[in-house]
Amino acid sequence: MHKIHSVSAVYRKVCFMSKQTNATAEKGGFGSKLGFILAAAGSAVGLGNIWRFPYLAAKYGGGIFLLVYLILTVTFGFALMTTEIGIGRKTGKSVIGAYSSINKYFAPLGWLAAAVPVIILPYYCVIGGWVLKYMVAFLTGGGTAAAGDGSYFTGFIGHALQPTIFFFVFVLFTALVVMLGVNKGIERVSKIMMPMLFILIVGIGIYTLTLPGAIDGLIYYVKPDFSAFSIKTVIAAMGQMFYSMSLAMGIMITYGSYMRKEDHLESSVRNIEIFDTAVAVLAGMIIVPSVFVFSGGDATQLNAGPSLMFITLPNVFESMVGGQIVGTAFFILVALAALTSSISLMETVVSIIVEKFKVKRIPACVIVIVVTLLVGMLSVLGYSNWSEVTIFNMQFLDFFDFVSNNIMMPIVALLTCILIGFVAKTKFVEDEVELNGKFKSKILYRIMVKYICPICMLVILFSSLFMSL
Ligand code: PHE
Repeated sequence: MHKIHSVSAVYRKVCFMSKQTNATAEKGGFGSKLGFILAAAGSAVGLGNIWRFPYLAAKYGGGIFLLVYLILTVTFGFALMTTEIGIGRKTGKSVIGAYSSINKYFAPLGWLAAAVPVIILPYYCVIGGWVLKYMVAFLTGGGTAAAGDGSYFTGFIGHALQPTIFFFVFVLFTALVVMLGVNKGIERVSKIMMPMLFILIVGIGIYTLTLPGAIDGLIYYVKPDFSAFSIKTVIAAMGQMFYSMSLAMGIMITYGSYMRKEDHLESSVRNIEIFDTAVAVLAGMIIVPSVFVFSGGDATQLNAGPSLMFITLPNVFESMVGGQIVGTAFFILVALAALTSSISLMETVVSIIVEKFKVKRIPACVIVIVVTLLVGMLSVLGYSNWSEVTIFNMQFLDFFDFVSNNIMMPIVALLTCILIGFVAKTKFVEDEVELNGKFKSKILYRIMVKYICPICMLVILFSSLFMSL
């Protein structure tokens, strides 16, 4: 009896898998585990790793921040990423379809999650355009002009024409890859870009660490400063990790829906985490010591926001031997990181349009391009012709960033945990992980999704609303 039962169970599973594989084949999907990991890591590794992480680490106690960040990544981040990829692969749907197929009352959550990449994509591409501009400036030997008191940067974003051109070019690059599809576009490009990115970051890291005085900067970066440790360290690390792993915006659900059934989900998540964290830590090893050397040991130069990347760093490169080459390599690196992230944002939106409105990939891409260009212009003009227009005292770009990161994403993550932890039950995701292997961290996963993650999300939500970190 038992045997018959298990044979039929295996048969059902095989039928289910072949049905799923057919569905994936129609939709297009990743052709290999490595392709999936590199594409998902490409989404995760972005401006957040290179620009925001080093600054936060320097501000919140160096080594102690790194330690907290690491612990959060392998627990909190692991649980959320496993949940999203699990939902995606199990349902095989885009973010809207995925949530509503789990529970029809949670359909609005799908729409909320889908709105996040729609908001982020345009302004992310505007910043991508700034990065392209600097890459071109360094490539053509104009890096020196970018150094100075910041007037190069404010002059650039203060006139709409150039930022518009670079923004359009960045959107077109992104769209070109997405138009080619998941396998021929995203996977192929990720397999080239991600190893390139890694080689560049290691190369620049080794060079900057050989500069005189850099080791003191490195020590400053990794040495735990317990006096800088507070609850704010944990909250900052939590928010950063959440953003860095591209969670709560439907991306991992979308990429999960293209993942092959035969690949092990848990180990894929672990690999993505390692890639994302390694790039963040390496970026810190470049930025903190080099700013430290440049400023003669003054760590306060590590300011947040655009000025670090677009004003301080060009000055740092300018003062370095071989700075033109290092600067060029650095901005190529940042452009690669930004591009693979914007690709994942666009793919998420395109997959929704294809599924919901039953249109083909290319027309869906065209719709997304047009909307992105129109909405992105608000962010471009917000720094130039319309600089006096603000919403809640914020410029357009800052406003879009605030609403998506500080309000919508924590809500999406919180409700996703409630959906999986208490409504559908964690078994929903656990079964998917166990399709082809043991779920080693199952107990940890369960506790995280049901109890710890929701609490963490509430803390992030309230702290970002009521405290300015
Ligand atoms: N994970 C990306 C980073 O670290 C951020 C991102 C945001 C990626 C939005 C895609 C979309 O920069």
